[in-house]
Amino acid sequence: MTEHVTVIGTGTMGHSIALAIAWAKQPVVLYGISAEELTRAQQGIVEKAERMVEEGLLQATSDITPLISYHDDLEQALADTTFIIEAIPEKLTMKHELYQKIESLVSSDVIIASNTSGLKPSDLALGSQHPERFIVTHFWNPAHLIPLVEIVPGAETVEATVLRTKEWIEGIDKKAIVVRQEVPGFIGNRLQFALFREAQALYDAGVATKEDIDAAVTYSIGRRLPITGPLMSADFGGLDIFKDISDYLFDDLSTLKAAGAGLNELVSYGHVGVRSGRGYYEWNEAEMNDVATKREKLLMRFLLEDRNDKGDA
Ligand SMILES: NC(=O)c1ccc[n+]([C@@H]2O[C@H](COP(=O)([O-])OP(=O)(O)OC[C@H]3O[C@@H](n4cnc5c(N)ncnc54)[C@H](O)[C@@H]3O)[C@@H](O)[C@H]2O)c1
Repeated sequence: MTEHVTVIGTGTMGHSIALAIAWAKQPVVLYGISAEELTRAQQGIVEKAERMVEEGLLQATSDITPLISYHDDLEQALADTTFIIEAIPEKLTMKHELYQKIESLVSSDVIIASNTSGLKPSDLALGSQHPERFIVTHFWNPAHLIPLVEIVPGAETVEATVLRTKEWIEGIDKKAIVVRQEVPGFIGNRLQFALFREAQALYDAGVATKEDIDAAVTYSIGRRLPITGPLMSADFGGLDIFKDISDYLFDDLSTLKAAGAGLNELVSYGHVGVRSGRGYYEWNEAEMNDVATKREKLLMRFLLEDRNDKGDA
């Protein structure tokens, strides 16, 4: 089924989701609350597309720009829509207000998907006239470079909504996974934060330097994880060995119930990372750009590999 997609919100996620859709050669409408926001989003899209051209992921920015149309009038933005992706701030009341407006403008068979980082789809659908069409599609940042999209149905989401959503997500060359229970953090963030909790605990206890803790991941499991996830890695390592290690190690792993002392202290001083010039590390703009560029280029190389594997490079 072909979907006519409208993305609502032009921030970090909204504009890169629109780019991801256009990169898959599908038209997309991007709705923003003001002309200024739309101009900023358009600039962001073009800059990102230029870097994709440099890395060989796209022949020319003109391959994607005509596929994206920009609106600051919600009614017009939704006129032909069949599938809405909401990417506005992570505030439940703000999202509910928007859904109420949307539901007064679209027919009942239009899917409403939220890009929420962790709000439960059942809570998002509260008060809706048609909870059966609500679903979460959790794109990862940057949405045009990270393939995963977690699809999370709520208690009242019908299977037809799940199937239509999965088909569309796969149709834009994303890797769709369906999270069958509304667990907080879905799957990706649960795994990411399990690692972050242990890293915090090791750092706060002075077991190693921050550089060495990071290197223990980037130079070891990080090298394998692009191919073998945690369960498949265990198959390769040998489940008997992984069982024995689980049996003696789990008891010693961090069981922190919230952010650790070190993280709380950094945040209380305003040291929030690259955004403030200091987090666990000290950052100047050149260093930050260096790491960001290196990471972006590697993500693009992964995408090129994916395309080569599929034979459509
Ligand atoms: N930033 C991330 O890394 C990330 C990753 C995954 C999911 N998410 C989730 O995606 C959603 C969007 O996050 P973001 O980082 O893009 O936020 P953002 O703050 O960068 O952008 C939000 C945009 O929504 C606009 N907006 C506010 N109210 C609106 C309304 N009523 N109608 C239309 N637009 C409105 C804002 O003006 C802004 O442009 C959130 O639910 C967030 O939790 C974020």
